[in-house]
Amino acid sequence: MHKILVTRRVFDEVLERLGRHFAVEANQEDRIWTAEELAQHLADKDGALSSAVDPLDASVIERASRLRALCTIAVGYNNIDLAACKRAGIVVTNTPEVLDETTADLAFALLLASARAIVPAERWLREGRWRAWKFDAWLGADVHHATLSILGMGRIGQAIARRAAGFSMRVLYHNRNRCDAALERRCNATWVERETLFAEADFLLPMLPYSAAVHHIIGAPELALLKPTARLVNVARGGIVDDAALIAALQERRIAGAALDVFENEPALDPRFLALDNVLLTPHIGSASQATRLKMAMLAVDNLIAVLGGQAPPSPVRF
Ligand code: DGY
Repeated sequence: MHKILVTRRVFDEVLERLGRHFAVEANQEDRIWTAEELAQHLADKDGALSSAVDPLDASVIERASRLRALCTIAVGYNNIDLAACKRAGIVVTNTPEVLDETTADLAFALLLASARAIVPAERWLREGRWRAWKFDAWLGADVHHATLSILGMGRIGQAIARRAAGFSMRVLYHNRNRCDAALERRCNATWVERETLFAEADFLLPMLPYSAAVHHIIGAPELALLKPTARLVNVARGGIVDDAALIAALQERRIAGAALDVFENEPALDPRFLALDNVLLTPHIGSASQATRLKMAMLAVDNLIAVLGGQAPPSPVRF
């Protein structure tokens, strides 16, 4: 029987299914392992179900001499050294598609909450400060008929664009490769140049997978193109946005606000975010619904069973 490792806590039904196929070691305590500990746990394993935050760098991969399948329960895999996996002949898989709609839901929730100051207004009410209704209190920005600018029109970007139709939004997007006309029609989205995308945005959503090529793709020059009334919403990955540049733009009120689910160096996000009243912060919960996390884990199990059974996995990472 193949030995496998589950690096972080998963639902019991996931472990039960794994147990029917493999000898399983699972980190149900959910301790955050160091790279050294992770390497030790992987040393005698044929496969692993990993997470988006495990430090699967070359030093860990190179010590996992039996490992044949690395199946991450995430769509993003920028925490995995693919070159090291390739050298070691390890198949890497991820969990695309099953989380698209759930992540788009969160993007829209953040967009709405940021525009209408839902979180500070609720906090203020709880603090017992609501004495009287006021004509000019808690004035937010309209979402309906506003311009939604999406950088990167992959599956999650498309799911967000479809939601925007319900709010009669104008949807602009920029991709290196323009989508075909049928897809543009389905998303009611118009391709524009990058500068136009930034300059026209009421809400800017970067929706790109992280890679070195898109590191800080939204930095000081891009933020300078935004209107003072614009808001940035990031549910993609830390590192796509230059957090220091964003903090400066928010501190100087050069943009109206931001809503962020992902950060550079998370969970140790830049503490200056915490002092700002024009940013909404959530702890990387884009795909966090019960149903979607189960689908992600089960897809990862499908992948593991396929690879260790000598079959092609349903969702391989191609590299
Ligand atoms: C992903 O799937 O990459 C998410 O960010 C982790 O849930």
